[in-house]
Amino acid sequence: MANENVQADAALPAPANVLVIFGAGGDLTKRKLIPALFHLSAADMLPANFAMVGVDRLELDSDAYRERINDEIQQFVGEAFSQALWDKLLQRLYYVRGDFKDPASYAALGEMLQHVDREQQTPGNYLFYLSTPPSFFGEITGQLANAGLTTETGDQWRRIIIEKPFGHDLASAKVLNQQLHDAVAEHQIYRIDHYLGKETVQNILAFRFTNGIIEPVWNSRYVDHVQITVAEALGVENRASYYEEAGALRDMISNHLLAVLSVVAMEPPNSLDADQIRDEQSKVLRAVQPIDPEAVTASAVRGQYGAGTLADGRKVPAYRKEPGVAPDSSIDTFAALKLYIDSWRWAGVPFYMRTGKRLPDRYTEVVVEFKHAPTIMFRDSLLVKSQVPPCRMVIRVQPNEGIGLSLNAKIPGATPRLGTVDMNFNYVDYFHSMPSTGYETLIYDCMIGDATLFKRADNIELGWAILEPVLAAWSKKPADEFPNYEAGTWGPREADELLERDGRAWRACGT
Ligand code: BG6
Repeated sequence: MANENVQADAALPAPANVLVIFGAGGDLTKRKLIPALFHLSAADMLPANFAMVGVDRLELDSDAYRERINDEIQQFVGEAFSQALWDKLLQRLYYVRGDFKDPASYAALGEMLQHVDREQQTPGNYLFYLSTPPSFFGEITGQLANAGLTTETGDQWRRIIIEKPFGHDLASAKVLNQQLHDAVAEHQIYRIDHYLGKETVQNILAFRFTNGIIEPVWNSRYVDHVQITVAEALGVENRASYYEEAGALRDMISNHLLAVLSVVAMEPPNSLDADQIRDEQSKVLRAVQPIDPEAVTASAVRGQYGAGTLADGRKVPAYRKEPGVAPDSSIDTFAALKLYIDSWRWAGVPFYMRTGKRLPDRYTEVVVEFKHAPTIMFRDSLLVKSQVPPCRMVIRVQPNEGIGLSLNAKIPGATPRLGTVDMNFNYVDYFHSMPSTGYETLIYDCMIGDATLFKRADNIELGWAILEPVLAAWSKKPADEFPNYEAGTWGPREADELLERDGRAWRACGT
């Protein structure tokens, strides 16, 4: 039932600033970033003195850039579009043509920023958003520093948002962190993991740490195991050039799934201070039991989709037949992993994770399965003979955002029989709207200097360190068995066996 007392809060506008987007001609800018600015403006969360400066290689000036964005904005904002609001924002967009490697471009950007500061009366606070191929992250940050654009003086702040992927493995992530630290201080760096920006992921913390009945059972005494699934029906789309270098383990597990794992498993921090939260998340990752390099197949499964039929009846080609993919590609479009966290809270509790493209549907779910209660009194009942189902909490991150708890109850009648009942909370029932999944929160948080939802250098490196043995084993031995699952199914057989060996099974998502 809807609760009229639960309303979204009204946040104050961010302090006056200029957002500079490198890669302003790219897809992310038009599909997500500018629409996010529109939404922030509609929610009065952008300051009155604000501007955006786009930087890219396209031969455009500010007027031509505005025209280009203007032509497309409506379709990406959708129903919330308002012409009057957009016209106001449009006048605050500027453009600098530049080559990311050329120091002259940074001089031109510096001049533009001075011009914008005068015209829009912005006080010299700059937020640089690097929406570029990853190979430019170090270069652009270094060039910005050399041009003096990242130097903070007095109250003026300078911040940099780095998109994913952050490195390709542990060594390259360390190199990138070093390049960034050579140019700017850690407090200026905001590494994006958009899963941390999802309301439902943030709610895991509130849910765990504000409900007195949850925390006492959230440990190895009561929890049998945890499953984290991020399933997508999408294939590789038009991203083969990136994906052929990445694969599911790098693209999803190294960042998003480990981020969810650390939120589910972390100890309560003493405050909501960004560093305290990130310290606790790093502690979880540091406590992950190293995967034995000699026995990677016991903990990790890889898969690649073959041709198949999706739930909506569409026939889709195999990954190896997608445009831009090598016909003998060894890239994983599915990955599953079993990890243990060697902490007092979690010792002995397996955490199973899986993600894949071309699975039956889009689901992100965390399942916390509790241990069986001793059911001796029901031993003669029909259900106990075929085993009492375990009690489970399912956190639905997306879609149908909410949390469900399944419990056992007596089926009414003369014979003592048990059945499963569900308690269910849906966001949409209580908060009147589905939680936002976009970039609004992340851009706004960066503008107000709140790094809680961004990753620190150590969070990133610890994540890569966990995956090193798997990456090494997979690169040493190409996957002869690929493709090993049909598009539209739940991944390779080995992913089921990963749990079956432990006497467990994946919970069917969306049920
Ligand atoms: C991105 C990955 O980080 O996350 C994509 O690069 C993936 O491959 C996407 O499709 C999934 O995000 P979401 O928010 O749609 O679950």
